[in-house]
Amino acid sequence: MILLMLGIVKAQETCLSVQEYPYLLFGTKTAYIFAKKDTSSTTSYDLPGCQPTAFWMLSRHGTHNPEANEITDLQKLADLKQSILANYRNENIKNAKQRICNADLNLLERWEWTPPLNLTFAGDLTMDGYMTTQQQARVWKKKFPGLLTDNHHDYMFKFVNELRSTNTFNAFTEGIFGAQANGLGIPRENDEKLLRPYKFCPAWTKEIEENNETLSQLTIFESKRDYQEMISNISARLGFNYDLQKEDVLRIYEMCRYNKAWNIIQISPWCAAFTRGDLQRLEYAEDLETYYKYGYGSNLSKNLGCTLVKDMLIFFEKHLAEVDTPQQPRALIHFSSVAMLLLTLTALGAHKDPVPLTGDNYYTPQMQARAWTTSTMAPYHAKIAAVLYKCTQNGNFQVNEPNQILFLEKERPMHLEGCRVGLCSWSLIKQRYQELADKCDLQFCNSAKKLNGITAFSLTVIAFIVKYFLVTI
Ligand SMILES: *[C@@H]1O[C@H](CO)[C@@H](O)[C@H](O)[C@H]1NC(C)=O
Ligand SMILES: *[C@@H]1O[C@H](CO)[C@@H](O)[C@H](O)[C@H]1NC(C)=O
Ligand SMILES: *[C@@H]1O[C@H](CO)[C@@H](O)[C@H](O)[C@H]1NC(C)=O
Ligand SMILES: *[C@@H]1O[C@H](CO)[C@@H](O)[C@H](O)[C@H]1NC(C)=O
Repeated sequence: MILLMLGIVKAQETCLSVQEYPYLLFGTKTAYIFAKKDTSSTTSYDLPGCQPTAFWMLSRHGTHNPEANEITDLQKLADLKQSILANYRNENIKNAKQRICNADLNLLERWEWTPPLNLTFAGDLTMDGYMTTQQQARVWKKKFPGLLTDNHHDYMFKFVNELRSTNTFNAFTEGIFGAQANGLGIPRENDEKLLRPYKFCPAWTKEIEENNETLSQLTIFESKRDYQEMISNISARLGFNYDLQKEDVLRIYEMCRYNKAWNIIQISPWCAAFTRGDLQRLEYAEDLETYYKYGYGSNLSKNLGCTLVKDMLIFFEKHLAEVDTPQQPRALIHFSSVAMLLLTLTALGAHKDPVPLTGDNYYTPQMQARAWTTSTMAPYHAKIAAVLYKCTQNGNFQVNEPNQILFLEKERPMHLEGCRVGLCSWSLIKQRYQELADKCDLQFCNSAKKLNGITAFSLTVIAFIVKYFLVTI
């Protein structure tokens, strides 16, 4: 009924929240269905003459509750809501052309901050995140029936030790084995260093995460007149006759995209603050951030993302070494974070632009058609899959080698140089990634520690000398 009412109102004035073709790409908080433009799920992975024999996957978790550290921040929206409503009641509107429509105002009036029931569940999967994970597991099982079987021992799951990951594992295995799966007896491992090596890498923390140079291109972008004008326009649209702080605007954006991910059908009044151009600019801002933290903007990225590439190579090697007896597990499935997904894609060399993303080149044609788009690379439930196919030369499929790897992202062939529609020959994979995998020992992570080690050593020497002199004197 609300939709119907909105439809009627829409005929009279423009409601930004209910545009016919709303912009729904929200960076790392994009719903899977919005990122996967092509919703036909009937892609066939049958390669004539070839047999899928091993399955490797990295999956990002689904939609989740706000993190504990976001909650106080998002709560401030309750006050902002009151201010906006007051602005409109007082007709405090500078630019009548930019006002938000009545329907959106009514929605905003009814909006309430509903925190997760209990702080214990901060960051945990939402109900929808859980159910979509189950459903996707069933879809994958259908796609590879011979590989994703009902036998627990055909699988190995790896995930990190936190509520969200554990629940992703629970949901996924329920999807595969049925609701009574209960996680019992299913092979699993917690391997933190494999799945989030950046947490154990002082060099990365120092050079990238805690280095404000990492965000210098983002800072440039945010200082552009265009970005500032966007903030002014948004402020005017919400009835303020002064500019909101950037943090206020980002908070609204955060709520808008959380809302659209939690419930893809429902309209979020917070999204009414933004035009399509605004949303695209905010999307680019996050792309800039991820590009320099987890992507090609940092030369440490591939040295961290290599852990999973190495894991994949070792897994396939094992399957190729044993020609006669089928190896278990046949499916190696990982659950990790958006950071790891992006680092892995970088290590694989996927989504690489010929020119770097910068704060200055947003309007260039290359950037408007850029390959590094967080919204489509790493939405909720994003997955990278690699499937080993063994082919017979007399099959009618045109393969140059008996061993092939099919790379998929969002269930579609991944674009990788030198491969045909996601299908890469094993020799190409070895040639491209073996060196990276061999050198993947995270030694560089402790280069900062070595300095500390030297300092500690010098202090010991000084202490010794002091002690010696004190004793002799
Ligand atoms: C949150 O949930 C946990 C576990 O169910 C419970 O022990 C705790 O008391 C709850 N806290 C609040 C504030 O309700
Ligand atoms: C980084 O921090 C230093 C010291 O706090 C400051 O001088 C510099 O301007 C900052 N750089 C950027 C890009 O924010
Ligand atoms: C801000 O609003 C003005 C007036 O509607 C418009 O011409 C301009 O393009 C907008 N700027 C941005 C950055 O959206
Ligand atoms: C990364 O690049 C910087 C300069 O661009 C260089 O100083 C550093 O040694 C490089 N690090 C690695 C691990 O290649």
